[in-house]
Amino acid sequence: MIKKKRLGVNIDHVATIRNARGEIYPDPLRAALLAQKSGADSITIHLREDRRHIRDEDLKKIKKKIKIPVNLEMAPTNEMLKIALKNKPNFVCIVPEKRREITTEGGLNIKKNKTLLKKIITKLKKNNIRVSLFIDPKIEDVNQSKKLGANCIELHTGVFCNLVNSRKKTKKSLSEIKKAANHAKQLNLEVHAGHGMTYKSASKISKVKSILEFNIGHFIISESIFIGLKNTIKKFRKIIK
Ligand code: PXP
Repeated sequence: MIKKKRLGVNIDHVATIRNARGEIYPDPLRAALLAQKSGADSITIHLREDRRHIRDEDLKKIKKKIKIPVNLEMAPTNEMLKIALKNKPNFVCIVPEKRREITTEGGLNIKKNKTLLKKIITKLKKNNIRVSLFIDPKIEDVNQSKKLGANCIELHTGVFCNLVNSRKKTKKSLSEIKKAANHAKQLNLEVHAGHGMTYKSASKISKVKSILEFNIGHFIISESIFIGLKNTIKKFRKIIK
């Protein structure tokens, strides 16, 4: 059976624009509702420890009003676990976080955080929350994710997308993504992809058939300035199908 590919729309950067002026607009909830209406399969938000874009109040409102699944990206900390258990997003994607980074720079260091990750994964799953781990496309990290009991992995596609953007050779990087994705599928882990995707890089990554979910944010919000959120989502839907 061929499963339908899913598009998760990350609306963090609507909040970035709002926060840049300390205003109450543009409202991330309005963007989430429009994304839902325009064919998004889920809404992704990253509640960062420094609250630089999405804030606790946004999570609360979005979880209350949105009917499609809400995917909360969060760092593996006790504070975030508490927030997740309180707000009950449908999905959680655990990501590494450094205060000074502009955006998430790499996948999780699973070996270093095993005990905490195991605790967080177990608690979330007990509360019927689907858990994915954001990892670099490495076989070892896929194996570790399986051992820790994650439902899914999300492969960090940032390195590959940067190579595409700078018109460098991409063959090796795409092959790493493909190998990690296929290995994960064999282990019965659902495979997702995220970070840095544009039309061009998403189109190349969508050739990896074992990837079922794409989480895309910055480019979607950027492109919406020119052609609108609805048209951008429609274009991505066609690309990833
Ligand atoms: N997936 C994960 C785990 C992320 O951390 C991010 C960035 O917040 C994304 C997807 C979306 O990346 P981008 O905004 O570059 O499309």
